[in-house]
Amino acid sequence: MAFLEVDNITKDFGGLVANNHISFSIDEGEIVGLIGPNGAGKTTLFNCIVGYHKPDSGKVIFRGKDITGLKPHDTNRAGIGRTFQVMKVTTGMTVLENVMVGAFCRVDEREQARKKALALLGFMGIEKIKDFHLNELPVAMQRKVGLARALATNPVLLMLDEVASGLNPKEIEEIVEFMRVINSEKKITLFIIEHIMEMVMKVSQRVIVLDYGEKIAEGLPADIVKNENVIKAYLGEKYAQSH
Ligand SMILES: Nc1ncnc2c1ncn2[C@@H]1O[C@H](COP(=O)(O)OP(=O)(O)O)[C@@H](O)[C@H]1O
Ligand SMILES: [Mg+2]
Repeated sequence: MAFLEVDNITKDFGGLVANNHISFSIDEGEIVGLIGPNGAGKTTLFNCIVGYHKPDSGKVIFRGKDITGLKPHDTNRAGIGRTFQVMKVTTGMTVLENVMVGAFCRVDEREQARKKALALLGFMGIEKIKDFHLNELPVAMQRKVGLARALATNPVLLMLDEVASGLNPKEIEEIVEFMRVINSEKKITLFIIEHIMEMVMKVSQRVIVLDYGEKIAEGLPADIVKNENVIKAYLGEKYAQSH
């Protein structure tokens, strides 16, 4: 049985088919990358899995249970954590309060949530900034807060939406190291959307490629970089942009 099984998911936004009959599965313990050009449907696919969108058709099976159409709060309770490409955090809240929002997925009492949030801030090495507001912080810090908040929900599957974009090489290296640690030590399965090819190819064991809402390839990073369709749809264009 697959850990996560996405079976024939379609999501249509008034004629714009953002996900067109997408199927794939992820095994427990894997790190799987999701790549593709802007607008390919990557974030939509995440949203269909966690219940921010209800797919028009298809199923999402998580650990043997049909979770299609469950609300984000319930997929979160089921063990799926995610970060947002654009941080949906109220800037009126402090860092600590933001992470507490995640913790309330598992604990009811404020003091317990506070303790859990502080522990996660410690794990991320950012407890010093606990009383800052998000909009006062550089982007790398904001990302760490987003990660701490997702981790505070105790995920067994963590889905990261472009957590490394806009970061400098040293910060990217830190994120890569973080992914490896939570995957190998905390045993969290990772599903990551990423634009930075060097990074996603290095960290992923398997890569899925979307283009115009279609899955155009899936395989080992070494095979994906040589895949004709992927080069045409995405890698060629990216290569051209960076040279
Ligand atoms: N809530 C929405 N309503 C209408 N169209 C949307 C919505 N979300 C995404 N789309 C459209 O779906 C397509 C895929 O978007 P998205 O999943 O964000 O792509 P990616 O994350 O790969 O850049 C885009 O054309 C986008 O404009
Ligand atoms: Mg996106």
